[in-house]
Order: sequence, then C-alpha cells, then structure tokens
Amino acid sequence: MPHQLEVEPVDPSWRQEIARRFGRLSTTTARRAPLYAAMSAHFADRPELTDPLQAAPITQRQPVLLLAAIHHLLIADQTDPLVAWFPNLQVDPRPTTDPALHTALADFIGRRSDEITEITARRTTQTNEVGRCSLLLPAMALIAAEVDAPLAHLDVGASGGLNLLLDRFSYRYRPSPGATAEFPETQLGEATALQLTCQITGAMPPPTALPSIATRCGIDRSPIDVTDPAEARWLEACVWPDQRDRFERLVAAIELAHEHPPELVAGDAVASTVPALERMVVRGHPVVTNTWVLNYFTAEARQTYVSELDRFGTDHDLSWVYAESPAQTPDLDHGVPTDQHVTEITLVRWRGGQRRVDHLATCHPHGYWIDWR
Ligand SMILES: C[S@@+](CC[C@H](N)C(=O)[O-])C[C@H]1O[C@@H](n2cnc3c(N)ncnc32)[C@H](O)[C@@H]1O
Repeated sequence: MPHQLEVEPVDPSWRQEIARRFGRLSTTTARRAPLYAAMSAHFADRPELTDPLQAAPITQRQPVLLLAAIHHLLIADQTDPLVAWFPNLQVDPRPTTDPALHTALADFIGRRSDEITEITARRTTQTNEVGRCSLLLPAMALIAAEVDAPLAHLDVGASGGLNLLLDRFSYRYRPSPGATAEFPETQLGEATALQLTCQITGAMPPPTALPSIATRCGIDRSPIDVTDPAEARWLEACVWPDQRDRFERLVAAIELAHEHPPELVAGDAVASTVPALERMVVRGHPVVTNTWVLNYFTAEARQTYVSELDRFGTDHDLSWVYAESPAQTPDLDHGVPTDQHVTEITLVRWRGGQRRVDHLATCHPHGYWIDWR
C-alpha cells in the first residue's frame, strides 16, 4: 500500500495568501517567464488548485515549489498534454495566451494531485548554475598563471558539484555590443563541449588557456548526486522552463557528470573546509570557490568561515574566489556598496602569509556578462 500523506484541512485565509503570492509572481515574471506567469495567474484566480502545496512545511510553501513539482512530473512523462506549453520540452510550444492552457493545467492537477503532494511534502527547490563557471574561470586562469602550478579546486556549497567540471566546458567570451572592444572574441576549450557564452566589458582580457586542475572536491550540507536520475530530474525541474538555455546546459552538464562524477563531501562549510584543504594541498595550489552560497550563512557563520580560511592561509598559499551578492552578504569585503543588487566577483590571495583582496568585477548572477573593474 503506498503511504498516504496526511495533509491539513485547507484554511481559507491560506488560499487568499497563496493567491496573492501567485498573483505577485505572475506580475514580476510576465516579461522573462511567460509560461510561469500565465500558470501563476491561473493559480491566483483558482487558489484551490494549489492545495497540494499544503503538504510542504510552512516555510517551503512557495509558488516555485508547486511549479517545480509540476515540471518534475512533466520531464518524466513528456506525453502529457500540458507539455505542449513547455518551451524546454517542446520545439514549437503553444502560446501562453491560449486559454486551453488553463484547462490543461487544471486537468493535470486533478489527475496528478497525489504525486504533486508527495513531491511538495519532501522536496525543497535547489540550484546548480553551470553558467557561473564563466565567472570563475577568468579568476582561476589568473591564479594558475600566477602560481604556475596545477590547482586543487574546492567548491564550497557545491550543490551537485557541476561547477567542479569547469575545465571540461568550452567558453566564448565576447566584447559587449556597443563597447569599445579591448580584446577580440575568445574561444576556449573543445568545440564539442558544452559551450558557455559570456559578454565582457572593461579592461581585463579573457583567459587564453583553461587552468590545469590536479584535484577537485565539493562540499555541501545537502549534496545532490546528479548521477541518480530522480535527483538530477529534480535539479532540472527547479530551472524555469522559460529559461531554455539554462535547462539545456544543466542537462548537458549532468550528462558530463556521469562520465566524470564530481567528488562531493556532505558537511557544513565552516567545519569541513579546512580539513578538505589539508587533504588537497599536497596535490596542487588550493583554490576555494563560493558562488551564491554565503548568503545562506548567518553573519556569524560567515565570519567564522572567513577566519577558518585566514587560519589556513597563514600557513599555506591559498586563493579564494567568491561570486556573491553584496546586499545579501553585507559583512563580506565587496567592491560596491551593499545596497546594490548585483553579483560581485572577489579574489582573495594569501601568499607567504600575506593577505590581499582584489575586487575583480560585477557580473550577471548566472554568468551572462562580466563588467571588469
Ligand atoms: C543557491 S545554491 C548554489 C549552488 C552552487 N554554488 C551554484 O552556484 O550553482 C546554494 C548551495 O549552498 C549549500 N549550502 C548552504 N549553506 C551551506 C553550509 N553552511 N555548508 C555547506 N553548504 C551550504 C546549499 O545546500 C546549496 O546547495
């Protein structure tokens, strides 16, 4: 007998609240995610359809969890009529203005509500954004050239560890249109590999070689085994279907991870980083990376984490690259005021016990552009 989930009776004020949240999502995503905007508008009009979300713990009852649960089921069963509207699963998707979308969505919820309930009860949304490798690569290449040694790459908050494969992707760095080109378009890596494209403004030329990486490891408090099909599908489901390029590069990176499974350690960053560095330092120059991770720490945990890196850097040469939000990590050293909603790339080096900080660039959070200082 399948286990029957107990879902609380639906509180009418909850339906009002979730209708409000879906209404807001519909407005804020109308331009960049038309499908999710249209689905959200329908949920705002008919909040009773969102009842499966009630199975989630109260802090997780967010519209995106319900949307990801639906997406998860559709990735697994692409014969469902609702797939016709999904731009990442359909070559020629039906327009989101087609009123039949509403009927298809309501039918889907009616047929699959037990499965949706089961997913929302036990999953939380997750990200592993491979596009961020475009942000890490220039700093990693700079470090490799400077230390003239292979690197030992430790990605902390690695999620599925896909960004540990950064030297297996290919890169196209292009001057931004309209900017006075200070360098030619640069292509790196095998032409057949998954390609990431990034526009650059500012003085720093793109790297000319991929760094040599001797060893690599990821730490995450909830690592995702991307070689497990159900886990990989959930990661894919958390990408918005309107963002077809993000979805496609994630699928391609997961495929690559089957050939080169990243080593992942389950643990908290504060306690696990120095022990991992101590293991890795014998293999190459240690480089710690963080991308959109430190905002999940408390301010106190962030300070302890930085102190741990300082402690290791006192006795060993070490490099640390972080691409983080100054607004969400205001106590970290950033090159812009913390009221700016941007992503900043910072490089910290410890050489012979001396610490030096360089604010390298402002960038797109998913790696579409970099603006060098
Ligand atoms: C938004 S995801 C970013 C994942 C990846 N760095 C990327 O850019 O695609 C944040 C990740 O940080 C992990 N995380 C948050 N706090 C952590 C901690 N204290 N120790 C280890 N991992 C943590 C989460 O489990 C999650 O996988």
